[in-house]
Amino acid sequence: MRVTLNVGKSLRLGVGTATAALARHSEVKHSLLREYLIEYFLTLVASPHQDRIQLTVVDGFCGGGCYVGSSGTEVPGSPIVILEALREAQVRVELGQQRRKPIEFDVKLICVDESASAIDYLKRLLQEKGYGGRLAAGGIQLVRGDFLTCSEAIIAEAVKRSPRAGRAIFVLDQYGYDAVPLPTLQNIFCSLAKAEVILTFAVDALINFLSEKNLADFERKTGIDGAITAAELDKLKKSPGWRLHVQSGLYQRLTKGSGAEYFTPFFIRADRGHGDFWLLHLSRHWKARDVMASTHWKYHNHFVHYGAPGFDMLTTGYAARIDESGHAQGAFEFDDVAANANKEAMLVQIPQALDRQKGGVSFERFFHDRVNLTPATREMVAKAVLELAASKEVEILGADGTLRRVRSAIQSDHVLRLSTQKIFSFSSAG
Ligand SMILES: C[S@@+](CC[C@H](N)C(=O)[O-])C[C@H]1O[C@@H](n2cnc3c(N)ncnc32)[C@H](O)[C@@H]1O
Repeated sequence: MRVTLNVGKSLRLGVGTATAALARHSEVKHSLLREYLIEYFLTLVASPHQDRIQLTVVDGFCGGGCYVGSSGTEVPGSPIVILEALREAQVRVELGQQRRKPIEFDVKLICVDESASAIDYLKRLLQEKGYGGRLAAGGIQLVRGDFLTCSEAIIAEAVKRSPRAGRAIFVLDQYGYDAVPLPTLQNIFCSLAKAEVILTFAVDALINFLSEKNLADFERKTGIDGAITAAELDKLKKSPGWRLHVQSGLYQRLTKGSGAEYFTPFFIRADRGHGDFWLLHLSRHWKARDVMASTHWKYHNHFVHYGAPGFDMLTTGYAARIDESGHAQGAFEFDDVAANANKEAMLVQIPQALDRQKGGVSFERFFHDRVNLTPATREMVAKAVLELAASKEVEILGADGTLRRVRSAIQSDHVLRLSTQKIFSFSSAG
């Protein structure tokens, strides 16, 4: 059998010939997905008393499950990446935890693709890789169809499988930017209390071809309206910050309208095609957001953020220089340079923020109020606070109001306060 998924090099496999070439940035996307899911599953089974986890993973734009990678060898697609991440987490739990009884991972994978050849190919591939039993038992379900059309039934299935916790992950790897409308995201987040969505969004492709007509089409299809008005299109096109302005408007509208509370909005730098795209992570818990932000720091060479370091990442301050195509120069790349810039920004911004909260604020509140506004992880923020405490700019108090000498582990209920000395220097400067 020969299944043609796309144009590119071909690779002979038992199930047929895979000809879909996978770009380097997609390999990075898969590495991030794998890493994130392993951490996610491990977090769920952190308690040795837990003996079962039950949830659904939805791969809404799943593809055929196999590609030819940049080195010419077979590279797994997202359904296989998800199954391998699950297996790896299981192995790590079995090896690492002293359990009296083994933990049961009841994870159902639902794969959707509108292409019959992709679903057909994936089915054979899964059978060849030994997943035939799970396919037959319904632990892996393949659906040929449009994600949007199927989404309501899939969300209902995820709710049925996790009625109390409402746990599900949706991997929505659309090609462009208009196949996942806001009402679908809202349906996911209002139906499932612990839902997470990893959404690909080709933001550069959208912006590159923005005109009155396709803005109207995009808004009608997605419900992401008002991010930019037709009247603004011409006026702003002339300004150097136009692209960043549009990105910021789209991001705010998309995240606020999604029903999720926590987000990461970082870009994958594309090695070809229509430019960078977002790999947005939407969730309802700060911890999930924190795990995703940490994963971005791990794959720093390929992720980029066009905003500022510190706690004001949606401004364009950091990206002061803009190139001819409206892209920011010297963007934030999650590398050592970025980590340093981020730390330096926090060392200035934390005392300024505490100066506005004279009564003090718990570390938890301080972090939660800023979690969507920073590329930093909780650990990075804690380190910056400890550095400020060591230099006596910031004081750390116990929940009972007594001064603590915390050197390594800040607790959520520790209270942060600007040191009296610093309050004096701020007020005399003002
Ligand atoms: C970017 S590829 C997916 C790659 C895959 N997630 C991976 O990482 O291995 C997008 C896939 O979505 C499918 N697709 C496009 N529009 C769709 C829609 N509206 N509903 C479901 N599948 C769709 C295409 O057939 C294609 O296989």
